[in-house]
Amino acid sequence: MDYSKYLSTRAHALHGALGKQTSVPIPGLINLGSGTPDFVPPPFVMEAMQQALRENKVQYTAWTGIPELRAAIAEKLKVENNLHYDPATEILVTSGAQEALMTVMMALCNPDDEVVTPAPHYDEYTRDTRILGAKLVPVETTRETNFTVNVADLAAAITPRTRALIVLTPNNPTGTVLPEATLRGIAQLAQERDLLVISDEIYEYYVFDQHRHISMGSLPGMHERTITVNSFSKSFGLTGMRLGYIAAPAPLIEAMLPFHHAMMICANVVTQYGGLAVLQQPRDWFKEHLKEYDRRRHLWMETLDRIPLPYSEPQGAYYIFIDIRPTGLTSAEFCARAREEARLVFQPGTIGGGAGEGFIRGALTKGSPDFETGLDRFTTFVQGLLK
Ligand SMILES: Cc1ncc(COP(=O)(O)O)c(C=O)c1O
Repeated sequence: MDYSKYLSTRAHALHGALGKQTSVPIPGLINLGSGTPDFVPPPFVMEAMQQALRENKVQYTAWTGIPELRAAIAEKLKVENNLHYDPATEILVTSGAQEALMTVMMALCNPDDEVVTPAPHYDEYTRDTRILGAKLVPVETTRETNFTVNVADLAAAITPRTRALIVLTPNNPTGTVLPEATLRGIAQLAQERDLLVISDEIYEYYVFDQHRHISMGSLPGMHERTITVNSFSKSFGLTGMRLGYIAAPAPLIEAMLPFHHAMMICANVVTQYGGLAVLQQPRDWFKEHLKEYDRRRHLWMETLDRIPLPYSEPQGAYYIFIDIRPTGLTSAEFCARAREEARLVFQPGTIGGGAGEGFIRGALTKGSPDFETGLDRFTTFVQGLLK
């Protein structure tokens, strides 16, 4: 049967947009570009989820999430991010940042509206806007500035159709942490042009060296025009548990609620108790993981320096954006050949838009000894290409 006549125009437009997912692990293949952390949270988190099950906590919760979790999120945002939200009306617990982003976009975007973001960017922003018939407007950045956006370029991309700006720091795929001056520049721009800012902060815990994470909503004048999106996936090794949240002024949360309800009703209840446990206990345990990721970051950089192959020094998140232009291959060609010839998996830089052509996304998420084996294979493979 030919189903195409039953499908919406949007389903046709997005056909193949995700590519194919290989669900069966291929023996010998090492994924050096994965976005999934290789650690799990401490046992007390698992215990909290098991306890929720033992207590038969399996029914719907409040649409916005259990009150204890919303209170814990508001407290975390106050203490760690200098963000002040009312847990009763300004926090919406979601099924990951992914659902959060789509919920936000649904509440903000009409067909043909535009959302402006520095590029390379997280690839889902493109699909979210396309699903709504809106458009993501990428503002290109380059390795020369370590992929730090020029605020004047952002300003030039704003049109009467612009609904919002998306700020992603630390960045996937580039590893850029936006400096305070840039964030302040974006904040000023948002206020001058009367725009909302969607601040995707899911990599906030991954910052290296002197870099530090600053929440957009904590800057002067920005509380009322920032929608903060965050998640338990990356910071706490809980990607499959699907838990995230939106923090925003109450009228915006209220406007988002029907979309969240249409997709989820509420976030998974067991997972919410796991998230509550994470936030109620000290989070020092994460520091060990950050230290290990920093070790891998240095190993990556040493490997690339030795080859040599240029890259953008990772300031945050857990990615390294590698400049493969000296090999003469495109991002897609490089990834295909790395898979075939070196049994290595990378993400092409182009997943985050055209600005990533000539780059691949490596990651810090693979543990020993596969990580070191992968780097050795990478070295041999690239040296072969450079000959
Ligand atoms: C920048 C960014 N935002 C959002 C998400 C979605 O994360 P979650 O697992 O919380 O849905 C990801 C996942 O890779 C991401 O990289």
